[in-house]
Amino acid sequence: MDVAAPGLAAARLPRQADPCAFVIFGAAGDLTKRLLLPALYNLATQRLLPEEFALFGVARADWSEDEFRGHLKTALDEFATDSIVPHLRDQLIGRCRYVRGDLSDIATYQRLKSALGDHARAHNTRDNCLFYVATPPDLFSVVARLLGETGLAKEAEGCWRRLIVEKPFGFDLQSACELNKQLLSVFAESQIYRIDHYLGKETVQNIMVLRFANGMFEPIWNRDHVEHVQITVAETVSVENRGKLYDHTGALRDMVPNHLFQLLALTAMEPPSCFDAPAVRTEKLKAIDAIRPLTPEKVLADVVRGQYRAGRVAGKAVGDYRAAAGIAPQSGTETYVAMRLGIDNWRWAGVPFYLRTGKALAARKTEIAIRFRSAPLSLFRDMPVESLAQNLLVLRIQPNEGAALHFNVKIPGPEIRIENVRMNFKYEDYFDASPSTGYETLIYDCMIGDPMLFQRAIDIEAGWRVVDPILRAWRESDGGDLSAYQAGSDGPAAAVRLLSRDGLQWRAIA
Ligand code: BG6
Repeated sequence: MDVAAPGLAAARLPRQADPCAFVIFGAAGDLTKRLLLPALYNLATQRLLPEEFALFGVARADWSEDEFRGHLKTALDEFATDSIVPHLRDQLIGRCRYVRGDLSDIATYQRLKSALGDHARAHNTRDNCLFYVATPPDLFSVVARLLGETGLAKEAEGCWRRLIVEKPFGFDLQSACELNKQLLSVFAESQIYRIDHYLGKETVQNIMVLRFANGMFEPIWNRDHVEHVQITVAETVSVENRGKLYDHTGALRDMVPNHLFQLLALTAMEPPSCFDAPAVRTEKLKAIDAIRPLTPEKVLADVVRGQYRAGRVAGKAVGDYRAAAGIAPQSGTETYVAMRLGIDNWRWAGVPFYLRTGKALAARKTEIAIRFRSAPLSLFRDMPVESLAQNLLVLRIQPNEGAALHFNVKIPGPEIRIENVRMNFKYEDYFDASPSTGYETLIYDCMIGDPMLFQRAIDIEAGWRVVDPILRAWRESDGGDLSAYQAGSDGPAAAVRLLSRDGLQWRAIA
């Protein structure tokens, strides 16, 4: 009996990555200590890092190499996702080098080039380099340009040079296109890995497996059977110490064209012709491209923006957004956004996709809820059955990772009475996954040259193309549509109305 999907299972058997130097620009920052270093450590413990591996930190901090290593060691002890094995930690730290310098000065890159050359000769890294741009966004194109000017972007015969770029990738469509143009004037598209950390989450990757490695979901995964879809990314955190940056960004730019659209694309895409990067990325792009463009009137009717006011989240007092450090006292920046989108293709025509995300909400919860149409007729209408709940499939991305299927059963007894119950799959009941940062797969994939979980220029631009009319309409409105919501609640009342208009309700967040 043929039980497995050999393509999916075999395509990603782990192998040790190629020898390489991992260069982090902005190595003194938070990303390095909280996520990149712990992820590299996890890869090292899983024996997925090559023997000939070196980490080069580039930053302005006035550190010696020993001080840099000391900083990394303390960071790893604090942020490792599991208990540390001291000799593995020391081995990794022993492979770290430091290049001090201003990231907008070409001399820094010349020093880096000579350090990389010496290292490649001494340790046989075959000149492979992964450049990780973990800097503020205004430096993305500067780093790329100077890598180009010093010849570091160039792939000689038999070696690779790759660039990982963090988010935010652009501020709107125009700036994203401009950034793509600048990067592509130095690197080929195949060398650029634009990161969306949501794609590193196991449960996000599982959406495709759930859909395409099972026979039972795909036949009903369409407009004939699905009534509507709700995608929620709710956070309990407030803006914390990111006030200044956040006030300039807002929830829409911060979360929607990237994380929420990735969830939408994986839910709505057609089955790819095979499980490889071009096929998967093309199908995801087609789903985003099929989102019906929003006119200014539609933005005001179908997109809700909100901002939190003082309240309590998980028992703790949270102040008003406008009173947080770095926020303008009259700020009109949204900390919550909800929208109703249509996908104009044969699979989804007429099925609304509702998206929402926000800070300081009642609970941390990321999920995709697919509600199916009612049974075509009720056999039970003359019996004590009030109404039949519709079937629901909930993919829990985080926390409590898993999936639940809600369906109706008969309550035991002489009468026909019906109750809605759920079959609940929890990852933790089946798998013993060690905790991770979510960056392990992404870094590893870049090292082995698998770009499936990264975005191409066209993918990034497609996301911004949907969001741009919203930004424009908001800019042109007087801000009267910004609704307040209490910290610790499920969001603004206007978001409730967005669904009640269609006779629907959001799922509770907490
Ligand atoms: C980041 C956003 O990209 O994602 C943050 O900039 C947000 O504002 C974070 O808090 C959420 O990520 P996660 O993995 O905690 O869901």
